[in-house]
Amino acid sequence: MIYSKILFTGAYVPENSISNDDLTTIVDTNDEWIRTRSGIEQRYFSKGENTSDIAAKAGLDVLNKGNINPKDVDLIIVATVSGDYTTPSTACLVQAALGAENAVAFDISAACSGFIFAMSVADKYIRSGVYRNALVIGAEVLSKYLDFTDRGTCVLFGDGAAGVYMEASDTPGILAEDMGSDGSRGLALTCGHRKAENGFFGTKRDENSFLQMDGRAVFDFATRQTPKCIRILLEKSGIPLEKIRYVIPHQANIRIVEVISRKLKIPMEKFYMNLHQYGNTSSATIPIALNEMMEKGMLQKDDIILIVGFGGGLTWGGMMIQL
Ligand code: COA
Repeated sequence: MIYSKILFTGAYVPENSISNDDLTTIVDTNDEWIRTRSGIEQRYFSKGENTSDIAAKAGLDVLNKGNINPKDVDLIIVATVSGDYTTPSTACLVQAALGAENAVAFDISAACSGFIFAMSVADKYIRSGVYRNALVIGAEVLSKYLDFTDRGTCVLFGDGAAGVYMEASDTPGILAEDMGSDGSRGLALTCGHRKAENGFFGTKRDENSFLQMDGRAVFDFATRQTPKCIRILLEKSGIPLEKIRYVIPHQANIRIVEVISRKLKIPMEKFYMNLHQYGNTSSATIPIALNEMMEKGMLQKDDIILIVGFGGGLTWGGMMIQL
């Protein structure tokens, strides 16, 4: 039987850290509101680096940690909703930047659940024997989609990239997974909209492609769906809560995680949080957290972790993983 295992992690965030106070210079907000409503203290905004640039830097960090030759990478999947172009894919740009000329490369669009969706696809390719390894990256430059006149959204998001290298193994890595989508509620969180207008018929293009969100609807969705997803993972894997080293949730809002913690009676200490430093970097939050924990020595081989995300689509996904 072939399984897939996470062997190495890596990350990259742009260098410009923007505090809540910095945001007050361009939008009517304040540090206290942002901290208490979201838990965010700062985020990073790119100044010139696009999504493929930061994705490639994160990918290089992953490969360097494992001393892996880019030419030996079979598959590159980038989860993103903020790619440089509609085509080429961000993954193809990353492939070129890394010199991973033998890899197949494509993107996955599932917003904040994207990294889990991408890992799931990589896992299936590896388990089926089609590819032996995969570089899976979550990368976003969301700042280019933020409307800095909309205080309800622009204070919540940030830019960043991170990823993992997965390889075929004869011992299980992903012990259980649960994913789902509810397209009927998709308009609660949109980004990059383009109307079907064109020059031939003389209509002008819709320029409002900003990220737009019904915050309450997303909050409600996340606090209902994520506990269900965690329960399913516990049930499917048969792993008791005590055996899980950490739950690594998508970092969108500390209050969402507090509700999940209360509903499932999982103490907050079991959740790894770094939202205060990065804000919501969508598909990158989970791998950024995972990489940070690896670098701090908080995770060892054979540890069991649970990752879980939710977001645009609307989508959700989770995995029980043995490292
Ligand atoms: N600074 C100061 N005041 C702000 C503000 C800001 N950045 N953004 C909104 N406000 C104000 C509103 O204008 C409103 O004022 P009013 O009562 O005078 O009209 C007040 O704060 C309350 O706004 P509301 O939108 O009801 O706040 P909320 O408690 O629902 O919190 C979110 C808003 C967005 C933080 C919350 O809904 C949320 O976290 N949702 C989930 C979002 C998310 O995680 N999305 C990503 C999913 S992947």
